[in-house]
Amino acid sequence: MNRKSILALLSALMLSAVAVADEGMWMPVLIQNKIVDMSKAGGKLSAADIYDVNKASIKDAIVHFGGGCTGEIISSKGLLLTNHHCGFSQIQSHSSVENDYLKDGFVARTMGEELPNKGLNVKFLVRMEDVTEGVLNGYKEGMSEKERSSIIEINSRKIIADATKGSNLNATVESFYYGNQYFLFIYKIYRDVRLVMAPPSSIGKFGGDTDNWIWPRHTGDFSIFRVYAGKDNEPADYSPSNVPFTPKKYLKVSLKGYKEGDFTMVYGYPGRTQQYLYSDAVKFIVDKSNPLKIGLRTLRLNIQNDEMSKSQAVRIKYASKNANVANAWKKWQGEALGLKASQAIEKKIEFEKEFDKWSANRPEYNGLTNQFRKLYSEIEPYSILNDYINESVNVNELPKLAGTLSAQLSKMKNEERQSVEKYIISQLRDFYKDYYLPIDKSSFVAIMGEYDRNIDNMYKPEYFKSIIGKFGSVEKYADYLYSNSLLTDSLKAYASVKNGSFADDLTNDPATIFYNEMNRDFNSRFKPALNDMNEKLSLLYRRYLKARMEFEKERNFYPDANSTLRVAYGKIAGYSPKDAILYRYYSTIDGIMEKDNPEIYDYDIPQKLRDIYKNKDYGIWGVKGTVPVCFIATNHTSGGNSGSPVLDEKGNLIGINFDRVWEGTMSDVLFNPKICRNIILDIRYVMFVTDKVMEAKNLINEIEFAK
Ligand code: ARG
Ligand code: GLU
Repeated sequence: MNRKSILALLSALMLSAVAVADEGMWMPVLIQNKIVDMSKAGGKLSAADIYDVNKASIKDAIVHFGGGCTGEIISSKGLLLTNHHCGFSQIQSHSSVENDYLKDGFVARTMGEELPNKGLNVKFLVRMEDVTEGVLNGYKEGMSEKERSSIIEINSRKIIADATKGSNLNATVESFYYGNQYFLFIYKIYRDVRLVMAPPSSIGKFGGDTDNWIWPRHTGDFSIFRVYAGKDNEPADYSPSNVPFTPKKYLKVSLKGYKEGDFTMVYGYPGRTQQYLYSDAVKFIVDKSNPLKIGLRTLRLNIQNDEMSKSQAVRIKYASKNANVANAWKKWQGEALGLKASQAIEKKIEFEKEFDKWSANRPEYNGLTNQFRKLYSEIEPYSILNDYINESVNVNELPKLAGTLSAQLSKMKNEERQSVEKYIISQLRDFYKDYYLPIDKSSFVAIMGEYDRNIDNMYKPEYFKSIIGKFGSVEKYADYLYSNSLLTDSLKAYASVKNGSFADDLTNDPATIFYNEMNRDFNSRFKPALNDMNEKLSLLYRRYLKARMEFEKERNFYPDANSTLRVAYGKIAGYSPKDAILYRYYSTIDGIMEKDNPEIYDYDIPQKLRDIYKNKDYGIWGVKGTVPVCFIATNHTSGGNSGSPVLDEKGNLIGINFDRVWEGTMSDVLFNPKICRNIILDIRYVMFVTDKVMEAKNLINEIEFAK
């Protein structure tokens, strides 16, 4: 590239950062407020095209997939597109050493071959509505937070009951801006969702955890499902007689491509962001919480990776668990780096100084900063303990099953023996199917060892101190626990179910006792104080947000993500993470070939893809002698936006969102438009893989292409 074009690219990059706001995840029901801005950025949709309750709109093609991802409907017969990593646990659970769909991929050639998935559902939003007034009905300024919460709970329950009475709908009331506003969400949940196609992991998870959270990227991160309904098109439990769901709306696929600067919109379910954190909270994340959690997960990952590399069966068993542990582990590292590089803490402190000056003579807001300071220093040891509970005490698989199953069984005491047995057996089956004791036990030794070394004695349960005293070390205690628990030996466990003693045996089991004692102590000695401080914090944040909306009059505030449907929009754009480095905005199949490596599991592409590449057999999916694979844009997204449709200015599907770039993973806390980019799988690569690699012509024929 010559100097002139570099300059042109640079100035385009800078322009695109200035020209659109990019930051923000907007509520569909209020999208009217953003339409002018969206059309300035190139959008051509009306508010009613995006969200409407009276006629079909794009929202009717979007689902919350399995509670943690997003999906979109792409045919009149309920065909659904999401990420490979979103369908990963389903693909994994249908896989075995003989039928390894993780490794080889899966295609249903007819609808009869589509695979049902226990527990998987998709949620369509019927409508959303501001219910702040009703939720706060009866609340008066000056009431305690406890009183407020109980009023909110009672009112919400009534609002939900009224909204769903006599219907098959579900509803929730969610808080926005830390309880300054409340919205009702009404959903229709479909429970029969079947797997239709998954590419091999060497395409769908290409680059594995090495490439995860990184640009340039070449991951074909998609899988295809189908929603089924009863004969009346309403939700139904799985049944062979169910029929493909007929959607109100499905997305059309656009093959026309895009260029830098083009408008894009992401429509989906971001999980959780914390954009308005006080500086001390960011400091805690960067200096304490992230490093601690990363350290604990590093220990677990090393153990898992080691065992997985030794056995094909273990690799399949732990594929999904391992991916989950690794994903946040890596993100936390990028987040801490990005927050430092963006000087997030310094910027927050600067802002807070200005805010303090402004609030000094406003009695209703005065002193907020000091109160934040004080509370954050009080809460720190409790938060650290809480991190250890979540990342070491409660992630040991066998004790966790023992403790949770035993609690569940005591709730089922009065139920019929047969149904209780059935329940236990299904729990045990699910557990043993993906369990490998040596991993769990080594993990226990490693992470409970960290707990033992790093947690101050006063925060440890007497029980823990006494077992370590008695056995001499965590390791020796683990030897005891993992050889004497009933769950250690699956045959013994099933036998004890048969002879009716399972529930009693489990109550007295060392694994149950460990899990229960550790949690009981935390819940009784520390949890109440932690909850109390969190309550105080949420009150502070409520006031802080209200104050900031007055202080920053010009700013267009958007609520933190809370797993409700949002719209983000922006432009397709490369970025420059560092001096002298410029990233182009798209990747191609040529990059896959550069990374291809038969020696490394995550880079060992199917031979078929190599052959196709050699013969340049790209069909109608190729562009100028190559196939586009991924691209990046300035849309503000978060975890949960995986699988979200990425739409062009007319609302046609150009890609599937699946990740963010390394330098921008801090966008949950601070969005920096210069470096925050979402990573999108190009829909043409999806079609190419479906058609040429998987040869699923039936699916291609089912999809409608935009003209
Ligand atoms: N980073 C993406 C997301 O947050 C993709 C994760 C896929 N999982 C993985 N371990 N590679 O979900
Ligand atoms: N991969 C993420 C998910 O599973 C989306 C990427 C992100 O966190 O931005 O939702």
